[in-house]
Amino acid sequence: MSVVLVAGVMLQVIIGAIVVWTGLNPFSNIAHFLVSIFLMTTAYMLVRHASIVRLTEEVAPRREPLLKDRPIASIVKILLVTTGAAVFTGTLVTGSGPHAGDETAVRLDFAMPVIARIHSAFVWLTVAVLLVSLQIIKKSVDARRLLMRPLKRFALVLIFQGAIGYWQYFSGVPIWLVAIHVATSVAVWLCAIDVYWSSRLSALPNSVLD
Ligand code: HEM
Repeated sequence: MSVVLVAGVMLQVIIGAIVVWTGLNPFSNIAHFLVSIFLMTTAYMLVRHASIVRLTEEVAPRREPLLKDRPIASIVKILLVTTGAAVFTGTLVTGSGPHAGDETAVRLDFAMPVIARIHSAFVWLTVAVLLVSLQIIKKSVDARRLLMRPLKRFALVLIFQGAIGYWQYFSGVPIWLVAIHVATSVAVWLCAIDVYWSSRLSALPNSVLD
């Protein structure tokens, strides 16, 4: 993972150059952003693995995830997919709008209201999957202990991000709100990864929950 991080930063140097050479083409901007999110995810995984090494004695002896083959394990994967789709369609909204590079940069050919609706549809789908997850984990002590906190954290960040999303949409996408929206999108994604990570744990050590 450390090697991936170093290689990824090198890759970003190249993509960054392509962004400039192509006159801030939205596709190269999107690639730059998605590779950044991937690197953030890798960094997050590195930190979690490092803390698991500290907890090896508690967690390692049982390799099977505690929630393996339970419906909640599949639902958490769906949550990850719908969140990823919300993030990806967000980049298409930006690529079609006023912040897709400078004034002369080409734009994606999507009508703003249409692509913004598709983007928010994935957000609402994520909200629905989240509500189902919260219902399901109520029925299992293990699932509740592993997932309640990460799911609540995810819900909070998602609500905040959704509010910013509507606010910026209905106020003509002011740049300072867009900046908050872009930054928080990384937090939303990392919270989703955190839920996924927690669903893959093989034991319930109290220290993991703290
Ligand atoms: C709650 C989960 C949400 C996530 C994870 C999310 C994520 C994103 C991302 C990643 C971008 C593109 C950033 C970039 O390309 O640099 C974006 C742009 C955008 N999002 Fe969202 N978004 C969410 C909710 C919403 C909602 C509910 C709306 C309401 C319509 C919305 C409206 C927009 C708009 C208008 C843009 C384009 C802003 C611009 O660059 O001009 N978002 N979003």
